[in-house]
Amino acid sequence: MNVLCVLFGWSIGVCYGFVLLSSASEQAVEIFESGRAYSYEYRSIVSLNEENRSGKVQAENPGGFSVEGDVTVQVVAEIEGGGRCLKIEFLSPKLRVPSKDRLVFQPSRLDATKNSPFFALWESGKVSGIFLEESEEVSMKNLKKGIASLLQFQLVNGKLETEETDSSGKCSTVYISTTDFPSNLTKTKSNCISPDLDKQEIPQNPSLSVEILSKRTTNYQFQQNPDRISSIHSREIHSAFLSAREEMGNRLETEETLILRRFGNVDIENSQKKAGKADEFVENFGREKGLTYARESLLTEIERNADGDVGKSFGKTVEFHRDSLKVAEVATTKQSRAFLEVLKAARKAEKRELLDVLKAKKNKEILPQLYDVLGHVGTQEAHQAVTKRLHFEKHDLTDLSERYLWALAFSPRPRPEVIKDLLDKFSKLNDIPEKVQETLVLAVASMARKLHHVHQGTFEAVQETILNNLDYAKGDGKLKYLRALRNLKAPNTLPVLFKYISSGTALEGALSWRAVEAMVKDNRRLNTTDVLSEAEKTLFQLNRRHDSSARTIAADILIEESRRSGKLSGKLLDFLVLPDPNYEVKRYVRQRIEMAAERDGEFGKSAEKRWKGERLLNNYSGASPRGLSVSLARKFLEHPSWNGSLVAVQEMKSGVVKRGKIDVVMEKNGLEDELFSLGIFSNGLHSFMSGDEEEAEEEGTSAATAGIELAVLGAQIRPFVFFEGQGELMGHVWSGTASELTPAFQVITLLQDQSEYVRLGSGLIGKIDIKGAASLDLSGQIEISLWNRNARSLVRKSAGIVVIGSTGIDSSFVKSSIEFVSSIEPILNLQTDIDFSSNLQLCMRLTQPETVLRHTVRKIEAIPENKKETRTSKNRKMSVPGKSYNFNKKNNEMCKALFG
Ligand SMILES: *[C@@H]1O[C@H](CO)[C@@H](O)[C@H](O)[C@H]1NC(C)=O
Ligand SMILES: *[C@@H]1O[C@H](CO)[C@@H](O)[C@H](O)[C@H]1NC(C)=O
Ligand SMILES: *[C@@H]1O[C@H](CO)[C@@H](O)[C@H](O)[C@H]1NC(C)=O
Ligand SMILES: *[C@@H]1O[C@H](CO)[C@@H](O)[C@H](O)[C@H]1NC(C)=O
Ligand SMILES: *[C@@H]1O[C@H](CO)[C@@H](O)[C@H](O)[C@H]1NC(C)=O
Repeated sequence: MNVLCVLFGWSIGVCYGFVLLSSASEQAVEIFESGRAYSYEYRSIVSLNEENRSGKVQAENPGGFSVEGDVTVQVVAEIEGGGRCLKIEFLSPKLRVPSKDRLVFQPSRLDATKNSPFFALWESGKVSGIFLEESEEVSMKNLKKGIASLLQFQLVNGKLETEETDSSGKCSTVYISTTDFPSNLTKTKSNCISPDLDKQEIPQNPSLSVEILSKRTTNYQFQQNPDRISSIHSREIHSAFLSAREEMGNRLETEETLILRRFGNVDIENSQKKAGKADEFVENFGREKGLTYARESLLTEIERNADGDVGKSFGKTVEFHRDSLKVAEVATTKQSRAFLEVLKAARKAEKRELLDVLKAKKNKEILPQLYDVLGHVGTQEAHQAVTKRLHFEKHDLTDLSERYLWALAFSPRPRPEVIKDLLDKFSKLNDIPEKVQETLVLAVASMARKLHHVHQGTFEAVQETILNNLDYAKGDGKLKYLRALRNLKAPNTLPVLFKYISSGTALEGALSWRAVEAMVKDNRRLNTTDVLSEAEKTLFQLNRRHDSSARTIAADILIEESRRSGKLSGKLLDFLVLPDPNYEVKRYVRQRIEMAAERDGEFGKSAEKRWKGERLLNNYSGASPRGLSVSLARKFLEHPSWNGSLVAVQEMKSGVVKRGKIDVVMEKNGLEDELFSLGIFSNGLHSFMSGDEEEAEEEGTSAATAGIELAVLGAQIRPFVFFEGQGELMGHVWSGTASELTPAFQVITLLQDQSEYVRLGSGLIGKIDIKGAASLDLSGQIEISLWNRNARSLVRKSAGIVVIGSTGIDSSFVKSSIEFVSSIEPILNLQTDIDFSSNLQLCMRLTQPETVLRHTVRKIEAIPENKKETRTSKNRKMSVPGKSYNFNKKNNEMCKALFG
């Protein structure tokens, strides 16, 4: 067998077994020879610190602790089939915790807890089983599994890739040794998975995601004659940070060492030497000592500490945070923090408790915020509690019903049961107020979208309901279903959308295009052949006249395709050259191309070349800057991980914004992620505003209307209509109802919601938890003076954003964690001044006042045994300067004309 092994070892570079590789001197290596005994010094250090990927963080004394002790390994028996039974003792384990810049001994539970010898069944370098005394605490058992895992290794000559399960979970493992006899062996574990442990991870917007990176390496040093492990040194790093801001995160590092101090022989009776079965051997040992052993795998277990995180009840938590949840605190970080706390408590609460809080009189004022919370809880209990109180068909509950449905729509983790219940209510209740009905359909579509990978059936049921209702609905009744398709983003609804584009009303066509646009943006692998040909038909009006919004959206899709292919299409160039009565559409297309060229250097160069080639176009640009449509992108954040841009688009019609929007878009290496979109729309206002001679279009409904539309985290919500019809508009103008800054939309929503356990090689279990929330407010103000013939509007978006991230270890003998809290309260103002007294002048100003980013890092160490707890914290403040975004030359000129 030795010879075989040696030969085999040479040819494939690996040889398993207790009789192992040949050394340079052609001698077989046997690491755990029976009858041998080894004594090692053991140390395991855990350090917790801030993540430092960006190199922006100052070095600091880490938090954490260490466990030290002695480990003895005795090879007590040979097992049938060639394995060895190792008797291992973990002697006098002690805890050290940081004090100033050193780690000092602290009495802890480790000193007193039950601690008996344990056994590892070592076969061909694998620890195939471990026998632990049943009554020991989980934390002690886990540490022992960590020690046994260190003894699992494959001696290789060169490289071996394999898969192993140990205290880190199930990992891809690579062994590398560079010398003949592996006097120096390195084991690297990667892609470790632990499907048995709770994990919450949400495939949210990529720019909001949390990244968790782990690195695990172990180095083994060997000596010969007798063959032995002289040291084991293991190092792990686990970083958890925000994808968008790498310096917001925590790092958990561990170091484990076993250093050989003594070795010798143990006296083993011959009868034991050949023990036959490990179980029998261990059982005999236990019987003699009065101990009971059970065989376990190397996988560690979560400690369910009785004194653990019970936390305050939901009712108490709400009580405590009631003031922070009130409307007065909207868009503050205080409110989003309170939201996170209340949400945490709500997730553990029972239906009864949730109902009590909803019923309580003193919570009446904060009901909207409580429904935000409940929509994010994501348990069946919560939904049942809500539907007991909230009856969608009740008119006086319209606002609260919508609030709850919005929360569900934004919630990262909807439940199929809740979708099913909502669909049910939608079909059965026939007197739901129109607003709630629309919000419900849009919410269900957003929710289904998030589940489309995992709950195909639910997704299809929602799609079917929407399509059927769209088919049956009459007139404007169809609009909400077309909007819902925009949230659903189902490619197989394309033919239906194309039908509405080619034969629907102007508004149906525009809404269908939005749905198509959302789908294309969301799915880069979509076959766009048909979409592009439909877009050409619309923009160039090949099949019929199209609404100008439909045309501009079609143009966006064509331009994006041009940008992706890196080549400006000839058809778009032709379009710019040929006459079109709607000069605003043309100007819009031009602006969009220029914006794309500005944002994408490659495309910019190629577009410019073609542009220059078109003599006519070059001329045209200088001669006819007609139109007011604007399209531009401005960076508000430049960061190595993600850039952030504000993308503003205004499609004008006769001096009035017909469709305008500002999107908050995050970008990373060409990937775009739209977080928030604020749109304004108006129709039929031009006759009232100006006497511009632009051709009257086909819009059909000329009833004056205006409103705003928004999408939060990809979920479109129903439009808010300011007024409908000339009469209502005049009412507003005369009464000045809209001339105060009025909230249009408020909501608190989750941004990050990730928590997971990380099995550390040392046997301890780390917990990573990152949660973020935003309290959002959108307010608007419009003043129109018929006397002075001018108008001004202000749209203000403000938010209180908080992200709390903690990484730590919670064991029965020590609790140690690091936590960061980052908060910011950004505001964005879009102000538009229009003067239509003589020459139409329109000045837009987009500004962002100064704001402060606060970042607190807290380290917490606690020893439950003696109720000792130390906390240290550090605060940082970074000022984010105010900004005024430059629009374009024309706008600047008009602002100057208006304001001097
Ligand atoms: C963070 O990185 C910077 C630059 O790379 C380095 O100077 C600093 O010491 C690092 N801090 C820590 C805690 O590692
Ligand atoms: C062992 O090998 C690793 C990787 O090849 C190397 O980084 C390390 O320095 C070596 N250690 C010793 C003691 O030779
Ligand atoms: C994309 O769709 C078009 C038209 O439906 C089809 O002709 C083409 O083969 C499709 N392309 C791919 C790559 O599937
Ligand atoms: C631009 O157009 C004008 C009038 O159409 C013409 O006179 C002029 O030569 C053109 N310029 C160029 C550079 O083509
Ligand atoms: C952010 O923008 C800068 C400047 O345009 C660019 O160089 C960088 O690659 C961008 N970063 C990412 C992550 O896309």
